[in-house]
Amino acid sequence: MLLAVVTLWLLCSWGFVSPYNGLMADDDSVNLIIRSSLKLQALAFSLKHRRFKTQFHQRTTVYIAINIYNPLAWNVTKYIRIPVSGKAYKIIDYNGNSVDAQIVPLPSPVYKIPGRNSKAQAEVVFEAKLPALGYATYLMRNTTSQSVKYKQASGIEQKTDGDWILNNKFLSVYVDSKSGLLRQLQLADGTNLTVNQSFYWYRGMNGDNSNFDKRASGAYIFRPNGTEPIPLGNNVTVNFVNGSVVQEIHQTFNPWLSQVIRLYKDSENIEFRWIIGPIPIE
Ligand SMILES: *[C@@H]1O[C@H](CO)[C@@H](O)[C@H](O)[C@H]1NC(C)=O
Ligand SMILES: *[C@@H]1O[C@H](CO)[C@@H](O)[C@H](O)[C@H]1NC(C)=O
Ligand SMILES: *[C@@H]1O[C@H](CO)[C@@H](O)[C@H](O)[C@H]1NC(C)=O
Ligand SMILES: *[C@@H]1O[C@H](CO)[C@@H](O)[C@H](O)[C@H]1NC(C)=O
Ligand SMILES: *[C@@H]1O[C@H](CO)[C@@H](O)[C@H](O)[C@H]1NC(C)=O
Ligand SMILES: *[C@@H]1O[C@H](CO)[C@@H](O)[C@H](O)[C@H]1NC(C)=O
Ligand SMILES: *[C@@H]1O[C@H](CO)[C@@H](O)[C@H](O)[C@H]1NC(C)=O
Repeated sequence: MLLAVVTLWLLCSWGFVSPYNGLMADDDSVNLIIRSSLKLQALAFSLKHRRFKTQFHQRTTVYIAINIYNPLAWNVTKYIRIPVSGKAYKIIDYNGNSVDAQIVPLPSPVYKIPGRNSKAQAEVVFEAKLPALGYATYLMRNTTSQSVKYKQASGIEQKTDGDWILNNKFLSVYVDSKSGLLRQLQLADGTNLTVNQSFYWYRGMNGDNSNFDKRASGAYIFRPNGTEPIPLGNNVTVNFVNGSVVQEIHQTFNPWLSQVIRLYKDSENIEFRWIIGPIPIE
């Protein structure tokens, strides 16, 4: 399991907050921990990044240093997502080369997460190359450059006929625009695989806990009434988000259930991320 620690250091106050409920981002494989730390930043930059240091002194622009730590004993590449409120960001790696990035709008259900307190409307997504047992530093700043904005913007489309196709050199992912559900994968060798992925619910058993065989479903007990799950995917609204780094399908099943299906440019995996709740209880 990869634990990537990102230290963001704000040169000036950016009002830079998480899109989700106080958490910056979290993932099965990557943890991003944000904190303002003058010491860490100074340490990082006095070691190796003198070049950036002088840049910091010469310019008055807002820069954020993103340090991403890789505790694995081998090199990895990871896609990093940073919540932002701006429209365009310049990102440079430790060699000073600019890094391809995409501004991906947040799915609308994220705005409705109870307790959410954030100005972020999008995430900057870029590919980070991380050395074995070490960290990489990326620098990020907002920009008004129209060409950067144009390059980083995501296309957002809707349609009601045919398939949405997310594709890269490893995979094509077919999402039926009528049902809004995943229907097929095509592998690099042309093989088609039929896939269904959706959400279902079980009716809970009535129970008043008065007796052992009247146990109610609850936090530690799953006791459905019947074995047939009931599908929730009857009325799925789909948005397709396309860009140079990632392609996404934003599915909204109902007011309390949504999902993002993602395919990154150089990834052999599809990513599914869902938001469930608060679940209505009748
Ligand atoms: C890991 O990445 C470094 C550059 O960051 C490269 O020099 C090295 O060859 C890579 N190692 C492997 C095993 O790919
Ligand atoms: C960058 O962010 C700073 C701080 O919020 C803001 O004052 C400035 O106008 C922004 N610049 C651009 C180019 O968006
Ligand atoms: C796989 O599916 C695509 C799209 O549905 C189709 O165009 C293609 O011919 C299929 N390939 C094979 C080998 O069946
Ligand atoms: C899976 O999808 C296929 C084709 O879309 C459909 O015929 C089949 O009924 C689906 N299976 C389930 C369990 O939903
Ligand atoms: C199970 O569901 C059926 C109807 O779907 C209902 O009549 C029955 O009372 C339920 N049983 C319990 C124990 O909840
Ligand atoms: C389908 O969803 C739309 C908006 O998401 C809603 O207005 C409509 O009532 C829903 N239809 C059904 C049959 O649930
Ligand atoms: C997605 O965007 C890329 C370039 O950013 C373009 O090459 C591709 O055709 C687009 N795909 C769709 C389905 O619009």
